[in-house]
Parts: sequence; structure tokens; C-alpha cells
Amino acid sequence: MVDGDGDGELEARLVEQEEFEPSEEFVAQANVSDPAVYEEFEENWPACWEQAAEMLDWDDDYDEVLDDSNPPFYKWFTGGKLNVSYNCVDRHVENGDKNRVAIKWEGEHGDTRTYTYQDLYREVNEFAAALRDLGVEEDDVVTLYMPMVPELPIAMLACARIGAPHSVVFAGFSADALATRMNSADSRYLVTCDGYYRRGDALDHLDKANEGLDGVDHGVDATVVVDRLGDDGFGHDLKGNQHDWDDLMDDHAGERVDPVQRDAEDMLFLMYTSGTTGQPKGVKHTTGGYLAYAAWTSHAVLDIEKEDTYWCSADIGWITGHSYIVYGPLALGTTTVMYEGTPDFPRRDRLWDIIEKYSVDIFYTAPTAIRAFMKWGSRFPEEHDLSSLRLLGTVGEPINPRAWKWYYQHIGDEECPVVDTWWQTETGGMMITTLPGIKKMKPGSAGPPLPGIDAQIVDTKGEQVDAGRAGYLTVNKPWPGMLRTLYKNDERFVQEYWQEYSDTDSDDPDDWVYFPEDGAKIDADDYITILGRVDDVINVSGHRLGTMEIESAIVGVPGVAEAAVVGGDHEVKGEAVYAYVITEEGQEEDDEMRGRIVEGVEDAIGPIARPEAVIFTPELPKTRSGKIMRRLLEEIANGDELGDTTTLRNPEIVDEIQRKVQVD
Ligand code: WTA
Repeated sequence: MVDGDGDGELEARLVEQEEFEPSEEFVAQANVSDPAVYEEFEENWPACWEQAAEMLDWDDDYDEVLDDSNPPFYKWFTGGKLNVSYNCVDRHVENGDKNRVAIKWEGEHGDTRTYTYQDLYREVNEFAAALRDLGVEEDDVVTLYMPMVPELPIAMLACARIGAPHSVVFAGFSADALATRMNSADSRYLVTCDGYYRRGDALDHLDKANEGLDGVDHGVDATVVVDRLGDDGFGHDLKGNQHDWDDLMDDHAGERVDPVQRDAEDMLFLMYTSGTTGQPKGVKHTTGGYLAYAAWTSHAVLDIEKEDTYWCSADIGWITGHSYIVYGPLALGTTTVMYEGTPDFPRRDRLWDIIEKYSVDIFYTAPTAIRAFMKWGSRFPEEHDLSSLRLLGTVGEPINPRAWKWYYQHIGDEECPVVDTWWQTETGGMMITTLPGIKKMKPGSAGPPLPGIDAQIVDTKGEQVDAGRAGYLTVNKPWPGMLRTLYKNDERFVQEYWQEYSDTDSDDPDDWVYFPEDGAKIDADDYITILGRVDDVINVSGHRLGTMEIESAIVGVPGVAEAAVVGGDHEVKGEAVYAYVITEEGQEEDDEMRGRIVEGVEDAIGPIARPEAVIFTPELPKTRSGKIMRRLLEEIANGDELGDTTTLRNPEIVDEIQRKVQVD
């Protein structure tokens, strides 16, 4: 899939590679501006990571930076004890920053809420007391199925305070997706919300949460419900073990809960993400390494200082929101902005309006959003004074040079460096990107690996490929923010991420290589261009979706016999879901059936996975060994010239599908 043929866009990208230098003004004030940092980290690895650990306050010092005696089960800062909520809240209150704004929130109606570090301290303590009272104990997994309300980071920090790992489920996910995740995490506690506003509508969230709760096999001890909608609410009565957030907070007003001393390697949270099989993977992140890494990358890459107003427009339901709305920025004691809604409501200038209103210094968003802004035109940002901006960032998918330059020119006024940050749910934090105070930028290319990160591009045998050639991205040394395992599934952890390029019988860490399942190219400057996933995962608007998950939802619709899902190119979303469906004998292949298939996907996963097109076909193109040839289905979806079809068992089907796509 990354053999490089037919990738015209990529070739164009390489040919076109222009370079941009950060301004002297930016460099002069940058948190990290000495190029020696790269060498320093290399020579002094893994001790270099003490720099990250030193950004935190530890109750007990760690004994060892890295314990690599049992790869790939690495341990960081072993023996160290700390509490994440103490590091993100209490210490700023104690250090004279109690009146600094921690969270600036804006609702869809322009309503705002402001939490100073002191306010956050009070609310986190009260909610921690409430959770304890509900029976939550250290190591119990608390599921947070919440939209973008301030109660979400408060609940995360309250969980961290009492040592209860959280598992945040994106509010756009369906009831089934919630139940699957609660079942998988053995989670008996849920914090949710009555609803939220989106594009002018009040959405009923509790209804979905309740439906999800019905699907939890092991029973649920308590649910807490935030009242976001007030009079616009849907009038649900709370059931026996459901509690109103505000009532609980009143009951525990003024209470304080000592932060629990957690071991550096204790679990901080689980985050489910899509993989190659139908079952989402429960990525486990721990306390010391994760927070140190989130803080260090926020400092070095996002250049955050506590005086800044910083804004990441992602949703906290994804890893980006965990690391770069909540944990990294709050560990540094800065002001982090959160908003409810979408970039196009009430007008297509919503984001620029917020940047102007709060004088945002640093803005971090996704290429899919930038492509939409480009389409809407530059007049929206031009209506606003964006001169407060100092740095821009992107994450989640490759950014094409045109979108990069549009962002650089129209949002950053050619003054702000742009960091294109490659990382994953599993990596916990950024891995490949330029350090903005040191490195030049090359639009389209994420940049070199960060200091201390050993990334390579290899062929199928694990040999490094030459500059300019496509290969597979690997990470050859562990790093503090890495996932530790998949929840209760060490075997799948090894299989999914390590088996491909490691000698799994060896206990020498040099024989272990992390495989993120992305294709990439490297150029002569060591700049890495990410080509996209090489597994059956597609990236829709920067969100990872497993094709198998979508296929199994479609096959669950009565009347469907078989389905294959691929990602086709999409102007704004990057990729869109194309579903090829074989129906059962006698089933009408009409719009009603298409509607039921779309609904089936929304019910199983959520609207983000909704197919762009449902294409009925009598057969799928299969190899002689019976494997579906997804590459062909992708080419058909994109209207590309078809590659080799000679290995197909049923080559005649290809013409027929192509005709149908054109008719549809
Ligand atoms: C893709 C999001 C190109 C990649 C933080 C990765 C990117 C997957 C970039 C992880 C980037 C992320 N350039 N591709 N700057 N950032 N990706 O787990 O395919 O939601 O494997 O984490 O997104 O998605 P995830």
C-alpha cells in the first residue's frame, strides 16, 4: 500500500517542497531554541528524559528513568510517586497562580464560564469527594461520556485525584459504542450529561447514555448527570442510581480530598481507539511518563508559557484533547480554551471570533478543519484581528502543502511558525514535528523526530529505505508517553504494535521495534512525510475508524450478506467511508435499504462513521485465496485508473462495480 506507485499527490508534494524559517522574533522568545538539544538527547538517552520529569512535582523521587528489562513492557520513572491532579491544579494554587485562568469555556450561544486555578481546585476536590461517596475506589475505571463542557476536565482531574482511571468516550459515539467500552473496561461508574448544543439544536445525550447503560453486562453502580441544557432539556427523570452533578457538588461543598500518591506506572486513563479487528483497543496510559511527556511536548513544541492563552479546538473525547487541552497545558499552568459547537455555527467565523475575543496566542487544530476554512474563503478570518497569534499547529492527518500555506498566510499572517505534529493515541504525545524555535518548516512534511525519539523508515524486512522512497514508519526506542499495554490484553499489545519488526523472543530492547502502522517517506534532511495508515484503519476528518468495525455494523443490518468498507479521497474530510454491500437474495437495493445501512452504522458507532456512499454489488473483487482486494475498491471509489487485476478470481466484477459507482 505504500509502494509509492500511483501516488501523484505525494510526488507533487515532494517536488513542490518549499521551506520556511521561523521569524527571529519567534526564535528569540521560544521555549526551546538551542539546536544542541537534539545531540544532547541522543548522547544522554534515556537520562535526557529527566528534563521532562523535572517539569513535574514528585512526592517520591523515581529510582530509575527507564526500566527496559522486559521489553516491550517498558517502565518509566520507576518508583516515583506523584498525583496528576496535584500537578495540574494544586501546585499552581500554591505557587501564587491561584487567580490565573485555567479554563476559559465558551458555549454555543456565546455564554462563557471562566475557572481560575483556585476555582478548578475547589471543583475538582468537591467532585473527587462526590466520586468517593458514590463508592469509587482507587483503580476503578470511571467512564466519562461527555460533550465539551467544563465538567469533563473537572471529572478527569477528580478521577486522577483519587487514583481512579478514566475512560472518556467521545460524545458523538453511539449508545452501542458506549456499552462496548464500558463492558471492555469493566467500568461500573458513568459521568454523562443531559445534552449539549450543536449547530443551533439542543441534542439529547442522556437518552443515548441510558440506552448504552442498558447494554452494560456487569451492572452499573452509579451515574452522574451534568445538567447542560436547563430549560431546553428533554425532561428525563433520573433513575435510582443516577445523580445530578449540581446536587452532588452542593452535598460536598467545601470538601477537600488529599491527592492519592500514585506510582509513576499506575494507570491514569484508558482511551479506546480503532484497530484492525472489529474490537476497539483499550490503550493504557500511565501517570508519570504520560504527564511528563505531555508537559514536555507542550513546552517544547507548542511553546506554551503560563502567561499564554492557548487553544486546541479538538474534542476532549480524543487523545488530542486529553494531552493538549487538559493534561499538557494544565501541567504548565497556562490558560486553556474550550468551546462547545462547531466552526461553522452561528457563522463560519466562529473560531476566528474566539481567537480575537480571547487574544489566543497559540492555536492547534486539524487539517480537515483547515481544508473547510479554505473552501469557505479567507474573508471570514479577514474580518477578525488574529494578531495575538504566535504559533499554529496541526494534528491528526497529513496536511497538503496548499492547506498548510493557506493556514500560514491567512491565519498566521506569515508570522507564526506552523508545527505539523505526527503522533497517535498510543504515543500519548507528539513524536515527529519541527521544534518551532529551531527548525525550518517544509509544508507537507511533519518534520524530523523530536529529540530523544528514534524513528526510521524501513522496508518490509526492516531495512532502512533510502531518502525519498516510501516505506513503513517505525520507532526504535521507547519514550515516556508510550502506551504500556492494551487493557488486560498484553498479547494483543505485542501482536498489534511490536510483532512486525521485533524479535519477540529476545529480551534485548534493541530487538524491539514499535510499528505505528503508518507509511512514510524520509528526505535527505531527515524530514518525515507521513503517507497514511497501512492497516485497515481510515482517517475521516482526523478521526480513526476501523473498516472492520464499520463492516460488522453493516453486516448486522437485516438483508445484508457481505460488506467491504474502504476510504476514498474527500476534499474536506481527507478520507470518506465507501461501503460496498452485497445484499441477500430478494432484498431490494434501493434508497430505503441505503438509509437502513447508514442508520446501522450510526447506531453501532456514531455519525462520524456514516458512509459517504453505499454501493450495491453482486460480488466483491477477491483474490484467488479469497481475500477482498481493497486496493481496487479504493481506486474505484476515487475514480482512479485501476491497478493490476490479474490476480483476481472474478475480474469481470470490477467493470460492473465501476459502472454502478458512476450511475450512483
Ligand atoms: C494520523 C491523533 C499525518 C496517522 C493524535 C496516525 C497524522 C493516526 C498526523 C493517529 C500528521 C496523526 N500527519 N498523519 N501530523 N497526525 N496522523 O490515534 O495515520 O487519533 O497513525 O491520534 O493519525 O490517530 P489518533
